[in-house]
Amino acid sequence: MKIVHAASELFPFIKTGGLADAVGALTCALADRGHEVSVFLPGYRAAREHPDAAKAELRLRIKVEMGDQFLSGDVRAFSPRKNLTVYLICREEFFDRRAPYGNGERDYEDNAERFIFFSKAVVETMRLADLQADIVHAHDWQAGLIPLLVRETERRHGATLALKTVFTIHNIAYQGLFPAGTFARTNLPDELNQIDGIEYYSQISLLKGGILFADRVTTVSPRYAQEIQTPEFGCGMDGVIQTRVEDLSGLLNGVDEAVWNPATDVLLPARYSAADLKGKSACRVELLKRAGFEPKFKGAIFGMVCRLTEQKGVDLLLANQDFFLEQDVKLIVLGSGDKRMEGELQALAAQAPKKIYLSARLDEAMSHLIEAGSDFFVMPSLFEPCGLNQMYSQVYGTVPIVSRVGGLADTVIDADEFPATGTGLMCAPSVAGLSDALWRAQQLFGEAARYAAVQQRGMKRDFSWKVATAGYEKLYSDAL
Ligand code: ADP
Ligand code: GLC
Repeated sequence: MKIVHAASELFPFIKTGGLADAVGALTCALADRGHEVSVFLPGYRAAREHPDAAKAELRLRIKVEMGDQFLSGDVRAFSPRKNLTVYLICREEFFDRRAPYGNGERDYEDNAERFIFFSKAVVETMRLADLQADIVHAHDWQAGLIPLLVRETERRHGATLALKTVFTIHNIAYQGLFPAGTFARTNLPDELNQIDGIEYYSQISLLKGGILFADRVTTVSPRYAQEIQTPEFGCGMDGVIQTRVEDLSGLLNGVDEAVWNPATDVLLPARYSAADLKGKSACRVELLKRAGFEPKFKGAIFGMVCRLTEQKGVDLLLANQDFFLEQDVKLIVLGSGDKRMEGELQALAAQAPKKIYLSARLDEAMSHLIEAGSDFFVMPSLFEPCGLNQMYSQVYGTVPIVSRVGGLADTVIDADEFPATGTGLMCAPSVAGLSDALWRAQQLFGEAARYAAVQQRGMKRDFSWKVATAGYEKLYSDAL
């Protein structure tokens, strides 16, 4: 099949979260299965500076209609592996910036312009380069307009750009909401600026465009596909989702074994497997040193790696600080984002510098070291569309502590509830729920044989992308 993907992140070129990992792994897996895959990505500074992307060639100069203006852009392309072409939509004014979405304090004010431009540029390139896609697969709000723009452009030009469109919701909390006046920049017919179009409570939502106008809609776990039909998890979009249930499905993300495999991980000081865990002890010592702790420490190490946002349950962790202050354990957090959360974690680390450590940066190597060197991985998310770290944890022999939501509930088995099959600990997404799970973790860690059994079961689970890739292939063929 000829498959075109469009997303705002793609590992290893640009990443702020799991979107990059998921799109990176899926597109490679599809290419390896022999499909002809193109991926469109904004030409961010970081992406263009990546050594592979530095070889990108100028393919097209395009003019994109934005309201009553035409804005020019350059389309550069390179091929990082067989059957895979990455297209960078370049316009310095929009994408030559330090970070993809904002300056750390707040989102860029021109994000509507930037991502409407990106989406239009993708469709315009598909038309001019005559890509003739079987499937166009857009991800998240930044590419949400694409399914709609494909059909509008086909109508306007009497051409066929793609046979079917697919839209994946990686997180319904991010809806691409912008003031109503932004609609004019889309050049879409006025009737689409209504309740059954992309209008959303007197604003516009780019995410809604993807949900309503793609032929198929997917989420990144089966449970999340159910959850977002309810007011509790739908973030206001549950009504919109309900209109698409017949075309909605949930396909679980996988683990990219080329990147996340303790037996081959080059970012670790030592490698290991379920059969031989010596390397894991070496990682533990290195992690303790990196955090400035006593390397011979024998108690439980709790690790956490995440964007600091409400979603990730950081406040539940903070509310349980007494556990970490009073017990003979260590807490090592890698995360940046919300300044208040960062400040509170930093203050906690300053209060107990021998027990609690925060690295408030983006640090790929450290994220691998925490996965490998910890005994428990803490992920008490309030909601979680899929979540990748709880899967990485199991593969790395680090027992995950997760809340019973979304993809976390789909990928972890509670070891107290299911003693024979458990691979982690699951709790309610609440302060008391997490507290209970932390105490159960301490208990588990004290029972070496039981801990080892839980760890071994986790390491032997198959989270490879094979299953997910087959799922997407089936979805594409069914749609076609
Ligand atoms: P989300 O996409 O909601 O952030 P996921 O669990 O799907 O959550 O994916 C998060 C990804 O981002 C993981 O690969 C994780 O290791 C990575 N990550 C999060 N924060 C950091 C950080 N500060 N440094 C390095 N990697 C990080
Ligand atoms: C989003 C979600 C996360 C998911 C990732 C990749 O960032 O928050 O749960 O794993 O997308 O699909």
